[in-house]
Amino acid sequence: MQPSLGITVNGKLQFDNPFMLASGPPGTNGKVIAKSFDLGWGGVVIKTISLDASKVINTAPRYGKLRSRDKNEVVGFENIELISDRPFEVWLDELRQLKKNYPGKVLIASIMEEYRREAWHEIVKRVQETGVDGFEMNLSCPHGLPERKMGMAMGENPDLVREVCGWVKEVATIPVWAKMTPNVGHVTEPAGAAIQAGVDGISAINTILSIIGIDMKTLRPMPTVEGYTVPGGYSGQAVRPIALRQVMEIARAFPGVPVSGMGGIETGLDAAQFMLLGSHTVQVCTGAMLRGYEIIAELKQDLTKFMVDHEFTDLRQFIGKSLAYFSTHHDLVARQKQAKAEKAVASNRDAETWKGAIARETEALTTN
Ligand SMILES: Cc1cc2nc3c(=O)[nH]c(=O)nc-3n(C[C@H](O)[C@H](O)[C@H](O)COP(=O)(O)O)c2cc1C
Repeated sequence: MQPSLGITVNGKLQFDNPFMLASGPPGTNGKVIAKSFDLGWGGVVIKTISLDASKVINTAPRYGKLRSRDKNEVVGFENIELISDRPFEVWLDELRQLKKNYPGKVLIASIMEEYRREAWHEIVKRVQETGVDGFEMNLSCPHGLPERKMGMAMGENPDLVREVCGWVKEVATIPVWAKMTPNVGHVTEPAGAAIQAGVDGISAINTILSIIGIDMKTLRPMPTVEGYTVPGGYSGQAVRPIALRQVMEIARAFPGVPVSGMGGIETGLDAAQFMLLGSHTVQVCTGAMLRGYEIIAELKQDLTKFMVDHEFTDLRQFIGKSLAYFSTHHDLVARQKQAKAEKAVASNRDAETWKGAIARETEALTTN
């Protein structure tokens, strides 16, 4: 039986496959979002929008790359990009148009606002009128916006997360996911606060605060804007182990809450790992920036092959399957001790069996 890549999340978000473009440059306007739907992405989280785009001023350059020493491959990616600087009204028109043209695809609006109840109410009400399927609250952008008490400045404080998620849930009529920052000691604390406030899902992770490196000619940190920089958000392959760990922690702490996992996904097998650790859907940002929107064909093909190889026909048969194998260090030591003891007993038993066989053989030879 051919495996199905379809999955329904929150009872009403029907994905024909679990691959979404994550909020960022890949979902920067209606045109590229339409292109990604045409190519087969199951859903898109749009570039984060806010009510007043005139306050958002980007710099150039705003990206930095970490390359592997041998193959020159980009393994890590830093950005100091802000949320969308395109006018809110233009976005509303594009969202309306996208839903009209692609009713079967999942369109999630990533939103961010200042610490004001009325602002969050306004953005939720005006955006949901366009017909989008859900919200992702960006509580996690690590640079630029925290200076306006937005993004990670909210997301790292569980009390603020609870309060702001509560405001959104007061007016939202569609599913709301809260996107977590990885730049905290225990991601389950803000995630738990969001869930207490009633959100319908958790997205993780946003980018990790980083410095990509220093230009060794000028001795200036990069990306260098007029000689200066700020720490930015790290993404791509290199962050995957950290993302997997945080997704695991969230999924284990809050069974039943849908997780949308991301951080360094570039192949179908990367995605399968996030699902084995509890992700219901997966998101890709840097992978699509580096390798193009077309990777969706390969992602779907590889995930399908993984399912065929393991005889899974439905994603839910393996979502969270590897979570049971996390334990404590104390328990690992006890298991190892027991395994050694069992091995010793087995090898003693083998030795006894051999001794018996040799004795019987010797006896047979002497009698003959
Ligand atoms: C250039 C760039 C811009 C991003 N902008 C946003 C954004 O506007 N809102 C948001 O929630 N996440 C944003 N992100 C974070 C991604 O959505 C994602 O959480 C992160 O990059 C990890 O996934 P990846 O390794 O697949 O890129 C951005 C990432 C990059 C690289």
